[in-house]
Amino acid sequence: MRQPTPSRVFTPSHGAHGLSPAERAVYDTLDPARIPQHVAIIMDGNGRWAGKRALKRFLGHQQGAESVRFVVEAAARIDLQWLTLYAFSLENNLRRPKSEVSFLMKLLKSYLVSNIDSMQKNNIRMEYIGRTHELPTEVQDTMAWAQEQTARNTGTTLTLALNYGSRDEIARAARAAAAKGEITPESISAELDTADLPPLDLLIRTSGEVRLSNFLMWQAAYAEMLFTDVLWPDFGRAQLEEAIAEFVRRERRFGGR
Ligand code: FPP
Repeated sequence: MRQPTPSRVFTPSHGAHGLSPAERAVYDTLDPARIPQHVAIIMDGNGRWAGKRALKRFLGHQQGAESVRFVVEAAARIDLQWLTLYAFSLENNLRRPKSEVSFLMKLLKSYLVSNIDSMQKNNIRMEYIGRTHELPTEVQDTMAWAQEQTARNTGTTLTLALNYGSRDEIARAARAAAAKGEITPESISAELDTADLPPLDLLIRTSGEVRLSNFLMWQAAYAEMLFTDVLWPDFGRAQLEEAIAEFVRRERRFGGR
C-alpha cells in the first residue's frame, strides 16, 4: 500500500478527520494530486432496495436521502471540490406517479432544511442545474434559501440536477449559442447549465444499470465511468472513497496515446 503523502497528514484542521479506520485506510492510498475535481453520480436503485425488504418505494427514497447526506459529508471530508447528483430527472417528473413525484419534492425540501447546519459546518455550497423554474414554487423557495445560505462557503460545491435532462440542456444551450453567433463545441459548452462547473472527471452509476439515462451526456465525453451493483441506499462514504481510489488507479488519455 502506498504511504500517505505529507500533504495528507491528518490535523484537526483537515477535512479527513472523522473517517473510520477502514475509510482512512482507503483515504491514505489516495494521491491528493490525482483526486478528481468533479464527480457526478446517477443515484439509482432506491425502489429495488425497498422492494428487497418488502418496503414501500417511498422508504427506499427516504433511505436514499440518507445516502446523499453521507456521501456529501464524505466529499467534504476528502476535499472533493465538485459533486453533482442526479436527484430528479425530467423523465422522473413526467413518468412517475404524481404521489411519488410529490414525495420526492417533499424529501428534497426536508433534505435541504434538515441538512443546512451540516452544510454550513462542512463548508458546502449548494447549486442546481435543470429546468428548476418548473418545480413547485415552495420547492424553488427552499432551494433558493439553501443556495443563499451557503453561497459564501468555499468547500465542496454540491450541484443537484433537478427536473434535468441532458438532451433538453443541450438543445437549450445550442439555441442560446445560435442566438449569439456561431455554434461550436465551445459556444455550446458556455451555454450549458454546467458552464460554471469544471470538466467532469468521474461519473458513477449505482444499482447495476449501465447507461447514462440522459444525464450529463455532453459533459461525460472524457469522463471515466464507474458502474457498481451497489444500490443507492447502500452507497456511503466507503463506496465513494473506493470509487475515487479506482479513478486514481485509471490512466486517462483524452483521445491521445
Ligand atoms: C432512483 O431510484 C432514484 C431517484 C428517483 C432519484 C434519486 C433520489 C433520491 C436519492 C432521493 C433523495 C434525494 C435528495 C437530493 C434528497 P429508483 O426509484 O429509480 O430505483 P429503482 O430503479 O430501483 O426503482
